[in-house]
Formats: sequence, C-alpha cells, structure tokens
Amino acid sequence: MSQYHIKNLEEYFQVYRKSVQQPETFWHEVAEEQFVWRKPWDEVLSWDFEKPELRWFEGAELNITENCIDRHLTAQGDSTAIIFEPNDPDEEPQHISYKELHKRVCKFANVLKAQGIKKGDRVCIYLPMIPELAVAVLACARIGAIHSVVFAGFSSTALATRINDSDCKLVITSDGSFRGKKTIDLKGIVDEALKSCEGVESVLVAKRINSEITLKEGRDHWLQPLLDDASDECAAEIMKAEDPLFILYTSGSTGNPKGMVHSTAGYMVYTAYTFKNVFQYNRGDVYWCTADIGWITGHSYIVYGPLANGATTVMFEGVPTYPDWGRFWQIVGKHKVNQFYTAPTAIRALAKESLDLVTKHDLSSLKVLGTVGEPINEEAWHWYDENIGKGNSPIVDTWWQTETGGIMISPIPFATPTIPTFATLPLPGIQPCLMDEEGKEIKGNPASGRLCIKFPWPAMARTIWGDHQRYKDTYFSTFKNHYFTGDGALRDQTGYYRITGRVDDVIIVSGHNLGTAPIEDAINEHPAVAESAVVGYPHDIKGNALFGFVILKESGEERKQENLKKEINQLITERIGPIAKLERIQFTRGLPKTRSGKIMRRILRKIAEGHTKDIGDTSTLLNPEVVDEIISDKK
Ligand code: WT7
Repeated sequence: MSQYHIKNLEEYFQVYRKSVQQPETFWHEVAEEQFVWRKPWDEVLSWDFEKPELRWFEGAELNITENCIDRHLTAQGDSTAIIFEPNDPDEEPQHISYKELHKRVCKFANVLKAQGIKKGDRVCIYLPMIPELAVAVLACARIGAIHSVVFAGFSSTALATRINDSDCKLVITSDGSFRGKKTIDLKGIVDEALKSCEGVESVLVAKRINSEITLKEGRDHWLQPLLDDASDECAAEIMKAEDPLFILYTSGSTGNPKGMVHSTAGYMVYTAYTFKNVFQYNRGDVYWCTADIGWITGHSYIVYGPLANGATTVMFEGVPTYPDWGRFWQIVGKHKVNQFYTAPTAIRALAKESLDLVTKHDLSSLKVLGTVGEPINEEAWHWYDENIGKGNSPIVDTWWQTETGGIMISPIPFATPTIPTFATLPLPGIQPCLMDEEGKEIKGNPASGRLCIKFPWPAMARTIWGDHQRYKDTYFSTFKNHYFTGDGALRDQTGYYRITGRVDDVIIVSGHNLGTAPIEDAINEHPAVAESAVVGYPHDIKGNALFGFVILKESGEERKQENLKKEINQLITERIGPIAKLERIQFTRGLPKTRSGKIMRRILRKIAEGHTKDIGDTSTLLNPEVVDEIISDKK
C-alpha cells in the first residue's frame, strides 16, 4: 500500500475536480471520514459573500479536543503527541503521550473553570513555546472558551490593545521565557499591560525560568499548585459547528490589529485535511514546524492539524542560533524528524552559515520539507533542496494567511512536480483566480493580477472580532463576490501560481505580517516627529526590511540624528515589539503627497529600493520637488 494520501498528479486532479464540481459532497465525505461528531450536520454549506456570511456543517455538534485527543486514546494513547525540545540542548526533552496530554488538558480546563471561565469567555494566552502553551490552548477549547494567543514577542502596549479589543477575562503567562542565552521577563510585560486592562480578573502564571516575580494579591496565581489540585477528568463542552474557537490578531494596512475569528467545525476539518495531505503524514512520523504557536502557522500546524491526525508534533522553545547555527539540524537528527516546516527567512539566515553545521548532523529521516510566510527566493530554495533535502525531499511552498486558517496553495509532495518560487496548485476545495484592476477575472494562462478566491472553504475566518463591517470592507468589497487576499500573483502556462507579494500596505518582514499604520503611529508619538511614512524594501535575510521616512518638527532638527533614530526604534519596540523596528531611517523635509493629502508610498517604495530614476508618475503630486530632495539626501 502506498504511504501517500493523494498518490500522484492524476489523482490530485481527480480529487480537485470533484471538490470544485461538487464541493458539498466533497467536504461532506472528508468530514465524515475521520472525526467524531456529537451530532451530524444538517447542511454542509450556506454562504453569501455579499453579507458576508459563511456557515459550514450547520447543525453539527462537536468538541475539537475530543477529535485532537480523546479519539486517539484507545488505539494510540501511549504514542507521543508532543515532543517538547527545550531552549537549552542539555535539558531533557519531554515526550507527552496522548494519555498524558488528555490529563494535562483536563486539569488545566478544570483550573479555568474554577477561575470562573465559561463557554464564550475570552482568554488571553501570552506564553513562550513551552508545553503549557499547547495545553492552555486545548484547555480553552475543551470548555468552549475562546482563546486569543498573543505572540510573546509583542510589547506590553500591543498586548494590552489585544486584551482589551476582545475583553479577555483571564490571562495565562509565565514568570519569564528563555531565548538563547537570554531570559525575558514576561510577567513584567503582563503587569505593565494590565495597568490598562480593567476587564482582566485573573492571571495564571506558569513557572519556567524561576525568576523572582510579584503576584498581585487576588489577581495572580501560580499555575502549578492549581493544576496539582485539579481533577484530571473534564467533560468536553459540546460546541455548535459555527461557535468561535479562537481569535488571532493580524495586522491590517490601516488601524488596529484585526482579531480574526475562526470557527470550530470548518477549521478542524480543513486543518486536519490539509495537514495530512500537504505533509503526507503517516502514523508514527515525527513532524516539526518551527513556527511559534503565537502565529496561525502554530495554531493550525503545530497544534490542531497534527493532533487531529494523531500525529507526533515537535514544539521547540528556543532559537535557531543557540547554542550555534546548527541547532535546527541537531534537533532533526535527535528526534528523527520526518517532516520539517519553516520560514524562508530562517532558511536564508541558515544558508549564510558554514555547511559543517549541517553536515555534522544526520538528516536522513527527512521526507518532506516545507516553507511558509513569504515568497521564497530561488537561491534559498536550492540551498534547502540540496543541503537539507539532499535532492530527494520535495519542498512544499505553502501559501496561506491568518485569515484563511489553513494552507490554500501548495504542492502535494510526491504528486505535484515542484518549481522553485512557485506555490503551484490550489489544494482541493480552493478556487483561486486572478483579477485585473477593473475587477474582471483574468482567464487563460499565463496571467498576472490580484489573487482572489471565488468559493468558500471551511477554515476561512468568519469575521473580525467586534467589527463585521471591517471584515466586509477588507476582504469582500474590493472585488464583488470574491474574497480578496491582498496579494499579487502570477499564473504560468501550466496553471501554477507564484505569489509575488502584498499589493497593499502590509509588509512581510521575516515572515511576520506588519501594517505600516501602527508603526507610523508609534513613530509619530515621538515628540520631535511631525510625520512619517514606512515602506518595505528587499532584504537578504528578512525578505523585506522597513524603511522609515521621517519629517521632524523644528524643535527636532537640532537633535542628533543618531540619537533620534535610537529613540524612534525604542518607541516602536515598546508599542509593537522588536520585530517592527526600522532597518533604515531617513529624515526628510517633506513626503510625496497627492492633492488629497495621501502619502504616495509607491514612490517612497521605489526610493527605498534604491531607484534614483524611473520612480513612476509624479505628475499628480502636490509637491513633486520633495522627490528629488529625498533621492539626493539618501545615503
Ligand atoms: C501573508 C499572510 C500563513 C502563515 C504565515 C503568514 C504571505 C504566506 C506565502 C508563500 C509567498 C506568502 C502572503 C500572505 N505569504 N505564505 N508561501 N509565498 N507569500 O500569515 O501573517 O497572515 O501573512 O504572508 O503575502 O498574504 P500572515
């Protein structure tokens, strides 16, 4: 018997054709195949992109943790669900079996209940990559609380904004986190954030670094003693198919971060289906995704997708550089990883280091390699293929978004022939198309345009928390009756897609989605700054880096520019986090603006990229003279 789920290109086309011609039958069959439902659905799909309203598996009842844990207890209770690899290579890894995971999730769920958390309440999770993070996520799902995981690299201000936006009642954090040689005071960040979060009633603190912290009387509790006293049985809350499972924030091109709301049944079915097929996962394989659970990649492809398949999923606490640049490859060898999923930015950084750090480790277990988060350049693709995959592990270049919940366009390993930089073909059930500027679909190949999706898929986000209008405006208004991704793409002769990057003001830096508006807001808070504009430009390792054009107030012009630059980046670090720091800052006297006062970022982008001529049409500018000035001042 072949170990592959979709076995060859022909089978892929067959499955794909069915998924498009009879989407409801297709998803009905997928949903029936491997899940436990407390009650079956009445209707597979009802949808309206105008409203927009999307309902999958309406009428069904389930709990996702029964599918991710309980369902596996009889047949494979003793097999490993999670391998925890600590930051310090000398610390013992933990192998958490499905049975053990069940106990830990139930205990945690009971602790949440004892804190007064009920179905529908929001819980903020701000934790490093330790087992408690996965357990906390699942414990929320167990009792129907909506988790909102905030990446533990975000600052206290960013954390507070997210806690308040969704009115979280409880925060789960740790005393601190390890990051290579450093420790980070997470509890201190939470304390700072909570000064402006009145709705938070309690804080649960996991002990990780054994630092001295203060617990606020009546609000903060050490987690472990509560877990010790809790029962290890907790009945799963019965959820409706469309009940929200979690909120995850992502940056938009303007305004506050958007709390994308994901549903229960559709999200489960889609992440499980795509995990199995995109990684050709088989029981007993060891799968490792290097992302943080604070991002959608971690939600869908460290926790839910793998566990719904009874997989063994690796959780790595540390960084690729500690104790040396060989750490990833050492872990692959140590745990005999079969599927390895990482970001192009990591590959580019690793490719710059000595090959000895790769060759001294045994990578022979690897079968499938993956990338996600941004376009991968050809050089990095070949390095990955030759040195890590040894030319015989297919690379899946997976395109998707926080909003899509799961992988959308990707090769199926051993079925879809890969070409560097191409995400290739849509997964079953996904109907992408390219639109021109007038909103007409571009048929035929080759073609290039704005990437849209014309039919719903089960894992799509259902709304933006508290702002359905914004959901409609952002995703369903640019092109009538289509979901607009915000990305540009081209399609070659054979129908393969290549994602070319964002067409809006979102910039992908090291695979992280950053909106320009919040960064500019942070810069503008500096007392010496009058106005600013941030754009992205190509960067060797990060893919894109940030370039800030900053106009100073008169008072600021006397200040030393080096100091100002430091202070501006400090502000950004405080307001958003170090990932949003500017790589380059140029002080200017003006910014190119349209007559209506809108900054022409297209021109600044050209300048940041290093162009000195042909920077595009400047005739509609209010102040074309500033363009030359900015170019001649640029170093
Ligand atoms: C944006 C979404 C999906 C999890 C991580 C990022 C870019 C993502 C690829 C890829 C080219 C990619 C897109 C997309 N992107 N994967 N394989 N090739 N670009 O999630 O933070 O929501 O960002 O990442 O621009 O729109 P996210």
